[in-house]
Amino acid sequence: MSTTSPGAVEASQWLQHWDIWRCPSCRGNLSATDEAALHCPECGGRYRLDDGMLIFRDKTEANNGVAQEFYDSPLWPKFRFWEKFTWLVNGGERRARNAVLKHLPDRPQLDLLDIAIGDGVYLDWLPRGWRIAGVDISRSQLDACRRRAEAAGREVSLAQCEAEALPLADNRFDAVLSIGAFNYFNDPEASLREMVRVARPGAPIVVSDERPDLTDRMIGHKLGIPSLDRWIVSRLMNLGDSFTEMVEQHRDLDVLAIAQRVLPDAELFPVWRGVGYVVVGHAPR
Ligand SMILES: C[S@@+](CC[C@H](N)C(=O)[O-])C[C@H]1O[C@@H](n2cnc3c(N)ncnc32)[C@H](O)[C@@H]1O
Ligand SMILES: [Zn+2]
Repeated sequence: MSTTSPGAVEASQWLQHWDIWRCPSCRGNLSATDEAALHCPECGGRYRLDDGMLIFRDKTEANNGVAQEFYDSPLWPKFRFWEKFTWLVNGGERRARNAVLKHLPDRPQLDLLDIAIGDGVYLDWLPRGWRIAGVDISRSQLDACRRRAEAAGREVSLAQCEAEALPLADNRFDAVLSIGAFNYFNDPEASLREMVRVARPGAPIVVSDERPDLTDRMIGHKLGIPSLDRWIVSRLMNLGDSFTEMVEQHRDLDVLAIAQRVLPDAELFPVWRGVGYVVVGHAPR
């Protein structure tokens, strides 16, 4: 008599549900194993399914490691107060985020990939007919996103991985979105190349973040005492020392130049009274 383990059933159901996930190392097709895990017959890679999400990469380094540690720490909920404050002075969160979301296609049916989805705060504002996949490196953000999606009765397919190495098949998405993470990816250009690879030709790619040189507007930089701003951002606003240092190091990042190397038609629009930007381009045909 043959028996199938519950883990094997979960893994094969997960795979069949939406055929988008691939081995992040060799892009090979994945198959279900006896436990709740997926296996790549091509390269021998093995990836665990945990609480309905696929764990491709749970340890990261350099900038991605700093971000992962921060978003998994108690600092993020404290810092979020300032994020909410930014939304408030920009007409409320929904209105502020719509300055970015309006660049997504206006269609009832769509396959969307959200890179660095966080806790998916805007999921419920997207049309019900959209199929959504989300990736992030922070496990606690992904858990919060899953809970939020369940509460809203929305299905979201989630995986833990880095934006620079997406465990996804080529040409699968009608649009790709990323809000609030691009400036500090280990390799922003590599992440854009990945977005293009997984997008269908002609699909819009919408990337938004704060201005990299945002702290230039702060009092300490204006007075020639940047250490004052570092203290404000790190301690008062609770961004922490490592993240604050990373922000300072990337103040000269030329987002538009990076985007145009990958998306020839990329344009940059300032949003949130110039505090942020949204870059919009299309995957080349
Ligand atoms: C400010 S939150 C934004 C979350 C969500 N997009 C939003 O707008 O509310 C930034 C997110 O980026 C994720 N992140 C940072 N670097 C990443 C990387 N290299 N790959 C995947 N996720 C990353 C963090 O874990 C965090 O959840
Ligand atoms: Zn493989």
